[in-house]
Amino acid sequence: MSARLVVLVSGAGTNLQALIDACADPSYGAGVAAVGADRDGIEAFARAQRAGIPTFVCRVSDFQTRGDWDRELARQCAAHQPDLVVLAGFMKLVGPAVLAMFGGRLVNTHPALLPAFPGMHGVRDALAYGVKVTGCTLFLVDEGTDSGPVIGQAAVPVHDDDDERSLHERVKTAERGLLVETVGRMVRQGWSVHGRKVTVGS
Ligand code: GAR
Repeated sequence: MSARLVVLVSGAGTNLQALIDACADPSYGAGVAAVGADRDGIEAFARAQRAGIPTFVCRVSDFQTRGDWDRELARQCAAHQPDLVVLAGFMKLVGPAVLAMFGGRLVNTHPALLPAFPGMHGVRDALAYGVKVTGCTLFLVDEGTDSGPVIGQAAVPVHDDDDERSLHERVKTAERGLLVETVGRMVRQGWSVHGRKVTVGS
């Protein structure tokens, strides 16, 4: 049986699209059960709708407290019975309710080689620092900001004439490959976590 993914997004959704495309092959081992977002009017939703995937929106501003938002987000995700929840460009920190329900099977992708350059501007910060190599990181979400155990990483070169956009595009090309490859191996082979060390498959 195919694993159920709930994918959370906030923007363009190119990582989501890569997962949708991969899931079209039954041998991939997963299907996107639903796509959720913290805002509407985003390209990621159009991608989900074109693929016939259910969507839901959970906006922080619709709730009195961040905790209420977090509990509703957990409830909305749980309604689709996910095996894995994938944050693919989701620009919010999830809270304790989501972590309690999905901890250990909640993955996030970040556009830098963590622990370098966590936070909202991983590409901009890497460029400003002047690193010659950056990349992307797939990790298990914990209570911190981009601080959970690393599942996989891919490196990309920084070119002398890069700006944030050109570098982010190169990172995102690597990121889509890493996400599809790693999520596929996770659902087909399983994974284990010992301290900070994640092992996918045997
Ligand atoms: C990706 O590069 C992802 O790593 C980043 O947003 C982009 C989403 O692209 N996420 C973060 O920076 C989270 N802090 P997409 O919408 O085209 O998939």
